[in-house]
Amino acid sequence: MRRKATGRYATSIAGGESVRAFVPFALPPVPPLDLSGARQSALEKATLALGRLDSIALLLPDPQLFLYAYVRREAVLSSQIEGTQSSLSDLLLFELDELPGVPFDDVVEVSNYVAALEHGMARLREGFPLCNRLLREMHVHLMARGRGSDKAPGEFRRSQNWIGGTRPGNARFVPPPPNEVEACMTAMEHFIHHADDQGGDALPVLLKAALAHVQFETIHPFLDGNGRLGRLLIAMLLHDSGALTQPLLYLSLYFKQHRALYYELLHRVRAEGDWEAWVDFFLEGVEQTAFGAVQTARRLVDLFQHDTARVQGIGRSSTSALRVLDTLRQRPLCSVRQLGASAGISFPTASKAMLTLVDMGIARELTGQRRNRVFVYDAYLNILNEGGEAL
Ligand SMILES: Nc1ncnc2c1ncn2[C@@H]1O[C@H](COP(=O)(O)OP(=O)(O)O)[C@@H](O)[C@H]1O
Ligand SMILES: [Mg+2]
Repeated sequence: MRRKATGRYATSIAGGESVRAFVPFALPPVPPLDLSGARQSALEKATLALGRLDSIALLLPDPQLFLYAYVRREAVLSSQIEGTQSSLSDLLLFELDELPGVPFDDVVEVSNYVAALEHGMARLREGFPLCNRLLREMHVHLMARGRGSDKAPGEFRRSQNWIGGTRPGNARFVPPPPNEVEACMTAMEHFIHHADDQGGDALPVLLKAALAHVQFETIHPFLDGNGRLGRLLIAMLLHDSGALTQPLLYLSLYFKQHRALYYELLHRVRAEGDWEAWVDFFLEGVEQTAFGAVQTARRLVDLFQHDTARVQGIGRSSTSALRVLDTLRQRPLCSVRQLGASAGISFPTASKAMLTLVDMGIARELTGQRRNRVFVYDAYLNILNEGGEAL
């Protein structure tokens, strides 16, 4: 649906130029979202898929393990959307204190993303509301180390920014002037907390998340990290509303695969008021992604069962090999030193058991180093990486 104006323009100064900055009207859209026909059934399908993901996650033998892997996969993909060159194994190596051969800032950025999400989730668990203060706290973590550290971590911007283009004058989009950011964000926060009490009809959380993400990108409240934080906001909203017990739905792969369309639709909301086209795209993404996550969870469970049975079949040496396999299940990238500690076996026993897994084709040595070698559970990482190039 086309709407007339979806915001107003204010004159602002950026890079010495006078520009027209866009100030969005507060949510929800006026007139309200058109939820007839196919859109309503897309909403139902996406909601069902989300429910299925939530229930399967509760039935997993080890839900924390899935969450651990999924959060990291999301961090990689979300950071890759704007070009960060870092893979899942880079991140896992980095977390092991082994420096991967990628630019340091890139892997730090991905690691920061994990920290931001973990911080957000921990605060929600404490009962802290999903509010602007929490978004700013998460931004501190997102920008903590690496190239973001000079981008005013945790603070709304005090200067004019722009998106696309080499200078404000030829920018694709100029977000609100700095002195309007606070008010726009307060209105968005109000929408997040009160969207449900308007007119009696609760706004389904998926629609709330869809609207809030665009609004956040349009406000672009921070100097950097707006894409990543806006994507985290989706996961946080779904979790906080109770739609997902674990924060397990991440749309970054979908956004990355359809990046041009993703940006185009963000733009169209503002330019034409076409919230519906965005919502259709978003719901399709939720359905696909939730379905994909269920498949991934199932395949991981199958893999672990299959490999456990194989290792059990080797007879006498299976006890320590099973312990090592179990550690790899928790940390698909692991050094022998770490392995011994977490599997509760000596370094030589751990090394020997790991070599058994290598012989069986389950594990592979990654670094080619002679000391403190790092091993990877290939099939596990491959399943996590499917569809993306997160490897
Ligand atoms: N035309 C647009 N309008 C609004 N937001 C956009 C547009 N194009 C891209 N974006 C969003 O801006 C993000 C980039 O902003 P940035 O602050 O650099 O975030 P990050 O550093 O996390 O990538 C993109 O990931 C996307 O979410
Ligand atoms: Mg950026």
